Amino acid sequence: MQTIAVSLESRSYNISIVHELATFANFYAHLYPKRPRCVVLADSNTAALAEQLLPFLPESHLLTVPAGESSKSLAVAGDLYSQLARLRVDRATPLIAVGGGVVGDLGGFLAATFNRGLPLLMVPTSLLSMVDSSVGGKVGINLPEGKNLVGAFYQPKGVWINTQFLDHLPEREYCSGLAEVVKYGVILDATFFVWLEQNIDAILARDPAAVEHLIAVSCRCKADVVEQDEREETGLRMVLNYGHTFAHAFESLGAIRVGCTEKPLQRG
Ligand code: GLY
Repeated sequence: MQTIAVSLESRSYNISIVHELATFANFYAHLYPKRPRCVVLADSNTAALAEQLLPFLPESHLLTVPAGESSKSLAVAGDLYSQLARLRVDRATPLIAVGGGVVGDLGGFLAATFNRGLPLLMVPTSLLSMVDSSVGGKVGINLPEGKNLVGAFYQPKGVWINTQFLDHLPEREYCSGLAEVVKYGVILDATFFVWLEQNIDAILARDPAAVEHLIAVSCRCKADVVEQDEREETGLRMVLNYGHTFAHAFESLGAIRVGCTEKPLQRG
């Protein structure tokens, strides 16, 4: 187990990197000793993983949305607001986002805005969300006019990364996440880039020690940038968008080529 601290004064939090499901009980109880009731948000791909957490939560309500970028919409957010209202969710009710970038961005947006703010916990399930989108507080939804056009900087209270969740991640999604990992080597940490080159076989084989190391280094790199430029005001944080501009263009072209409106891959 490793812990990465993100130091942001009153908005500080820890990223816990673990290998065992049962550690979630301690993670939650440590943050919320009274173990309040909570809302768990997942999508149709991650609902089964979210259900594994429910036995550790005394009272929880599982809300699910369809998998895919189209769930990051005002319509889906509006429906979820209504569900939260009917559940009488208040500011003492944590929202736990269990999923990849879409669930994290959408769940974070709901937490940032419903009732003027709910405590947010991130449980990323894809490699991309573990090393990028679950850390740093960028949350939001898409408009027809553009991606992530409505959102906020809203830090989670904690990030719980269970590397076991990667076991069943499709190869394409795993490699998509690795692109974000390589990004940190290119933009911030040459030693890490060399380590990635030297350990590529173990990384592709999802060797547990290699996977833990690459997640920990990536999260530390991201935390270092976020600590210095939380709200992307100095320009430093924009370094984390390295490759995203090209990727968004390729994704849009790919979506047009295959005649669909969905983005083929998630981006942080
Ligand atoms: N994914 C880029 C950022 O968090 O700033």
